[in-house]
Amino acid sequence: MNRIFCPDCLIPLSGAFICPDCGGEIPQSGGIYIMTGDPTISAGNNGYNYIGFDTIASVYDDTRYGDDEVVENLGTVVAEHFPPGAVLLDLGAGTGIHTVNLANACSAVYACDISVNMLEKLVLKTSDKGLTNIIPVRANALDLPFPDNTFDAVIAIHLLHLIKNTDMVISEICRTLKPGGVFISTLIHFDNNPPSVSGRIDEIYERLGRQNHIGLIDSPGWSKEEIDPGLRKAFPSVKIVSDPRLNFTLPDHPARVWRQIADLTRSSQIDVDKKLHDRVMTELRDILTAEFGPDFLDTQSDRKLSIDLIVCKK
Ligand SMILES: C[S@@+](CC[C@H](N)C(=O)[O-])C[C@H]1O[C@@H](n2cnc3c(N)ncnc32)[C@H](O)[C@@H]1O
Repeated sequence: MNRIFCPDCLIPLSGAFICPDCGGEIPQSGGIYIMTGDPTISAGNNGYNYIGFDTIASVYDDTRYGDDEVVENLGTVVAEHFPPGAVLLDLGAGTGIHTVNLANACSAVYACDISVNMLEKLVLKTSDKGLTNIIPVRANALDLPFPDNTFDAVIAIHLLHLIKNTDMVISEICRTLKPGGVFISTLIHFDNNPPSVSGRIDEIYERLGRQNHIGLIDSPGWSKEEIDPGLRKAFPSVKIVSDPRLNFTLPDHPARVWRQIADLTRSSQIDVDKKLHDRVMTELRDILTAEFGPDFLDTQSDRKLSIDLIVCKK
């Protein structure tokens, strides 16, 4: 099943993706349905502008993941909450790391993202894996181009902290979910005891960033603490699900975390003053060298990660 809807009048389309009602054609570019223009999503709630993901799409996979076990187990546990043959909306699908992993558990997956560059990576993964039930859509989570009660399931992985009007995103998710449909997001916990190098990079960078007011720490959307109460306001049922398959002891990747920070490719790095940034990086390097030695980026250690699912029912 490959259903898509006219973004103007929301009539279901088939085949040519031309709306039978208004005659509007959904433009396609490189296999991506373009259902939104260039909305302003950069304004943060603390006066800083946030980068879009177009600028970091080319390094996203290398600097974020790399642990197949995490992606595989997360896919398995998440899919257990879907009804058979679900029509899924993967909101903020990005480069499709989770999308391609969940496609076989679904009849169709709408992979929506605001960033065309991220979606281009998703399209490559989709065709590499020969998946035909993924529909890449450039859409804005604040104004979804789908009718009410469309999806059996919606996921938003690493998204809710990024969008300033998170309440509006949740209201769009509720609107487009079918009654009884499920919405799943994640809560990530790193255990930094004993301290891993990348855990220390994060801690010290956050402290120095705040001291120097270089505007690289806070994200515009919900904080970790705001997610649970925010969702409870919107959904009649919200459960935090901890599953032993989502507790990991992983090799630490300090070089990857360093790259995110040093190259300013972290989602929350925006409008950073380069001079201040360079000063912070020098201080950060000095502290880590004192703690772990000059080759701190090559240190081999483990880092513990656990992921909870937040499972909401409409
Ligand atoms: C941190 S990435 C997560 C990608 C993917 N879910 C993952 O876990 O790898 C967040 C994604 O959300 C997208 N995004 C940010 N604001 C958005 C919006 N208003 N509408 C749709 N997507 C948005 C970004 O472009 C980016 O690809």
